[in-house]
Amino acid sequence: MKNNDFSPPSRQALHLAKRMGRVGTSPTAAVSERVRAFQRDGIEITNLGEGELDFATPDHVADAAKQAIDRHETKYTAVAGTAALKEAIRTKFRRDNELDFSADEIIAASGAKQIIFNAFLATLDAGDQVIIAAPYWVSYPDMIRLTGADPVVVSTTADQGWKLTPDALAKAITPHTRWVVLNSPGNPTGAIYTAAELAALLEVISPHPQILVLADDIYEPLRYGMPFATPLQIRPDLRDRILTVNGVSKSHAMTGWRLGYGAGPRWLIAALDILQSQSTSNPSSISQAAAVAALNAPPIFLQSWLETLAARRDIVLDMIAGIPSCSARRPDGAFYVFMAVSKWLATTGQTLGLKTDVDMASWLIETARVATVPGSAFGTPGHLRIAYAVETQVLRDSCERIKAACTPR
Ligand SMILES: Cc1ncc(COP(=O)(O)O)c(C=O)c1O
Repeated sequence: MKNNDFSPPSRQALHLAKRMGRVGTSPTAAVSERVRAFQRDGIEITNLGEGELDFATPDHVADAAKQAIDRHETKYTAVAGTAALKEAIRTKFRRDNELDFSADEIIAASGAKQIIFNAFLATLDAGDQVIIAAPYWVSYPDMIRLTGADPVVVSTTADQGWKLTPDALAKAITPHTRWVVLNSPGNPTGAIYTAAELAALLEVISPHPQILVLADDIYEPLRYGMPFATPLQIRPDLRDRILTVNGVSKSHAMTGWRLGYGAGPRWLIAALDILQSQSTSNPSSISQAAAVAALNAPPIFLQSWLETLAARRDIVLDMIAGIPSCSARRPDGAFYVFMAVSKWLATTGQTLGLKTDVDMASWLIETARVATVPGSAFGTPGHLRIAYAVETQVLRDSCERIKAACTPR
């Protein structure tokens, strides 16, 4: 769905920049609008579409923020983050990833999203290309288009574990390629690249000096047994071409605090600093103080979070296994299951007049009172993304309702 519905149209032509014609409202907007319509009528809908954990931000992190307010740490800070936060980010990278960064190779921002957007804005010109694997996080393509560049989407399949292969990557590279985005654990599939798989992809990228690598590691700690590897750890020789992005949104259930960070070559971090200084300046000083506490303390809460999440993931997988013609690959990380529904649409769906994943998502809101996100939002139609980041009993009940709705009687 393109964002061509600003009204009145004459105003649009008169006032909006041409670049606004290159981006769309997310295909999830239609589903969200249906949810709101039901809620306005007082009908309860369970939202399994939301990309955020239902857990509370850990107490020690929230306490650090309260103390920062009491200390009146409520003023502008350095654009790229306080010295204490940069030190905590350095400690995190050393401890978890065996990566050593100096303070001027690090920048904090209002979410990983801002780092990624600014990285594209700082480096891309019209006609440049960025390779992303589908299914992809919904924001990558539009962020790329806003800069005037073009996303080059390489499709992956469940049989390939939803991962980019070196062959497919090599075929997608052109003289215009400026970035390859690698997101692991991935949204919306939960796929995790092994160190060997990353090494093979980096081997393809390495001979092309104009190509940068964006490692989106935002789901790093949310893994169910798989080890974690990040591109720079594997290819330290590509240090001048890798931007590693992370944040506390998913690791510490802090989506609303808006605190992400990036580490990469000095020239790129300096450019991000300039962009940020002329737009939003530093991320919230309170959120920075909270992130210091989050990154410095060992995540003792994580084991119990992961046990809860793994049990929820299995509830969703069991539900899918019980619906004829639906299937899903068991995700290794994050908190999403990417469910294949095209066979269901061709059979049961047809008898119900449902043609696409968007139709199905809409219908599930009506019949099962559950919101999911259609796979087309992630560049992979014929699927639904189910986020299992809601209370376990609520999830169980929602899954029962989805199964009942989807199973022909
Ligand atoms: C793959 C991926 N990258 C980045 C982000 C942005 O995270 P943040 O909340 O830090 O902006 C998200 C959020 O959903 C995501 O799924």
